[in-house]
Amino acid sequence: MSGYRFGLIVMSDSRAGKPEEDKVKPVVDEILKEIDGEVVLYEVIPDDKELIKNKLLEYAESDVDVILTSGGTGFYPRDVTPDATKEILDYEIPSIPQAILYFSLTKTKRAMLSRMVAGVRNSRLIINLPGSPKAVDECLSYIVEVLPHAVDKLKGDSSPCGG
Ligand code: MTE
Repeated sequence: MSGYRFGLIVMSDSRAGKPEEDKVKPVVDEILKEIDGEVVLYEVIPDDKELIKNKLLEYAESDVDVILTSGGTGFYPRDVTPDATKEILDYEIPSIPQAILYFSLTKTKRAMLSRMVAGVRNSRLIINLPGSPKAVDECLSYIVEVLPHAVDKLKGDSSPCGG
């Protein structure tokens, strides 16, 4: 059994329902090995706000610890992932996207074009990531080591943080 359980929702109008064409999950699978994490729920769905909200709510009631989304964070008219996410969060955690942006700007100035959001719903950590496998690699690699501590705290670990 894996240490940390992840849900992954990939937003793509063109690849919806065709997970075999998705190149994001293999990247996520590889990065999560670092923390003994595993994707246990996964879907590729269209960029539809209501669908995204419903899927996030469904995953937030499941036994995953973290829900990652990929795609739909930019300015294209169909990019609605951050808007859908904000509507279902109990509270937002701006520092996670800020940290990702801080690092991502060292890779590409286009990082400023993502509106990604992070926060908590029903004690599940939800983090938007951009859509390209390269961007997912950069963003998730940077934050992955912090995720176990975040999950432990969300589950009620009250021990001193110690840095
Ligand atoms: N962040 C990183 N680290 N690396 C990238 O290549 N691409 C950017 C940005 N964030 C990128 C990145 C680009 S080009 C866009 S348009 C936005 O993410 C939004 O991407 P999305 O619409 O696929 O979510």
